Amino acid sequence: MSFVKIVIRKMRSGMMSYGPTSIKRLLWEQEYSGDKWNFAYHSMSDCVYEHLEKHAAGGSILDLGCGTGNTATELAMNAYCDYTGVDISDTCLGKAERRTQQNGRSAKNRFVRGDFLNYVPTQFYDVILFRESIYHVPPLCALPESGRGIYSENGDLGPRRAAFAQAVDDAEYYQVGI
Ligand SMILES: C[S@@+](CC[C@H](N)C(=O)[O-])C[C@H]1O[C@@H](n2cnc3c(N)ncnc32)[C@H](O)[C@@H]1O
Repeated sequence: MSFVKIVIRKMRSGMMSYGPTSIKRLLWEQEYSGDKWNFAYHSMSDCVYEHLEKHAAGGSILDLGCGTGNTATELAMNAYCDYTGVDISDTCLGKAERRTQQNGRSAKNRFVRGDFLNYVPTQFYDVILFRESIYHVPPLCALPESGRGIYSENGDLGPRRAAFAQAVDDAEYYQVGI
């Protein structure tokens, strides 16, 4: 890959995490407008579901950067009572909503369009999930701190049981900001 291509790729990736919401939305729409992410459309065997089931314990889940609805439709139906997926991309949300209807989960799942960095929840959640979206929370090491802006208006983290993020280098999930 040429030096110029590497620089362009780095700048694009920087904008997807640090840019203004409008630019991030544009770039994420581009990402999902083609078939680039089709490979990740089904993830039934992902180890995250085991963790989610355990910690949600039939409660509520907030999925920040929910994508095309994998978690919303692949997690066992009886593992949670309500689920909110937040994503910046309309394309992703459209797919997530269609899959939710096809799975008969419209009564449990709802989706919100927005930048999770300034999203203010309207309820408390038992589990907050950043699944493959943690890379776009800048800076990574300050997540619990920046989480104050994410989880609620007054900085109260609420009675959640766990927040999960996918680690950068492997497929393990770890708990953050507890
Ligand atoms: C790699 S995908 C992962 C999707 C999903 N969590 C999964 O595991 O299938 C990252 C998702 O995060 C969303 N995203 C990235 N930055 C975001 C932001 N600032 N606010 C809301 N969604 C964001 C993207 O639109 C995309 O759907």
